[in-house]
Amino acid sequence: MIQKTPPMGWNTWNTFGYEINEDLIRTTADAMVSTGLLAAGYNYLVIDDCWSLKERDANGRLVADPQKFPSGMKALADYVHAKGLKFGMYSCCGTLTCAGYPSSYDYEFIDAETFASWGVDYLKYDHCYKPDTTPSDLLYRKMGLALANCGRDILFSACSWGVNQTHEWIKSTGAHIWRSTGDITDCWQKIKEIYDLNVPLQPYNGQGCFNDMDMMVVGMHGRGLAGVTGCTDEEYRTHFSVWAMFNSPLIIGCDIRDMDEMTKQILMNKDVIAINQDPAGRQPFRAGHYGCDTWVKFLEGGDIAILIVNPYDSACRGTLHLADIGLDVASNKAIKARDLWSGEDLGIIKDEILFPSVDAHSCKFLRCSIVNR
Ligand code: GLA
Repeated sequence: MIQKTPPMGWNTWNTFGYEINEDLIRTTADAMVSTGLLAAGYNYLVIDDCWSLKERDANGRLVADPQKFPSGMKALADYVHAKGLKFGMYSCCGTLTCAGYPSSYDYEFIDAETFASWGVDYLKYDHCYKPDTTPSDLLYRKMGLALANCGRDILFSACSWGVNQTHEWIKSTGAHIWRSTGDITDCWQKIKEIYDLNVPLQPYNGQGCFNDMDMMVVGMHGRGLAGVTGCTDEEYRTHFSVWAMFNSPLIIGCDIRDMDEMTKQILMNKDVIAINQDPAGRQPFRAGHYGCDTWVKFLEGGDIAILIVNPYDSACRGTLHLADIGLDVASNKAIKARDLWSGEDLGIIKDEILFPSVDAHSCKFLRCSIVNR
């Protein structure tokens, strides 16, 4: 299985943490359909940590906690599949999961078979309680091989937070996405920190194995396990724009059964999603190093995406000299730009894009086609 575009979906952890059960999963599956999220592309529903019993069964197999999941994982997967969704689960490469449940160290092949037998389509694979004596790359390769031989296509979502130089070896493991940084929380400082850490990792990003910046906090407003201060809608919009531009998986972390209108508008902006899901799956690159941060991505078919982001705490000048991306006077070309958040047609721009003042923590996101001058 080759991962052409970043996966999209929902994960239990950010909001629900330990407090998960089959009713939550069923009602969330229903909401993914009724809210339009599935139609917008969010098709994976992922159960994170805390789903199993603390002991394996007599055959060494993981067992779903019967109090939380009385119908069992196969029946739940069938329910999720019947909604047109894909079903994701979680394990870890160490001796315990991060929350202290049984983990897949030395059980990689048996666990991959169990997940396949339940109808799992996506496995998030964490990095807690890793024995010091075994290197991370070996453990991820082992699970990569187990998944490739389990008889089912399972998206391998590696979650080693970028430690032990993950970027150097992760593509050899069979992982389809890799967590490039630590855990997100619902506050602007954390979003900025993850953004900053992902800037130098863009050379490792692209089709086949995308950098995963973590589940999004859009719409959490300080609620749930990862909730802290919450963010403003403007900050959530910038967060979503950066995740989209950087080819991150778009995995929602808020309670989608209870989203406000603005959250829906952000998460279901078709034009922004299209930049994330662009079939070419190319790396974004930084163009221009003054004022706001300006990022460019060359899209399938010749269009370009331009994200001017202000991660700073005061307004900045948003600018891009078109010569910096090859559209100099000699090219005789200009761009025709559309603002993806306001929907406004910005007309034909020659030589320089200029937004004299972009507010702190906000952004401008454009999709442009190339035209003659
Ligand atoms: C780690 C991961 C998180 C989440 C928790 C679950 O911290 O990075 O995304 O899966 O474990 O315990």
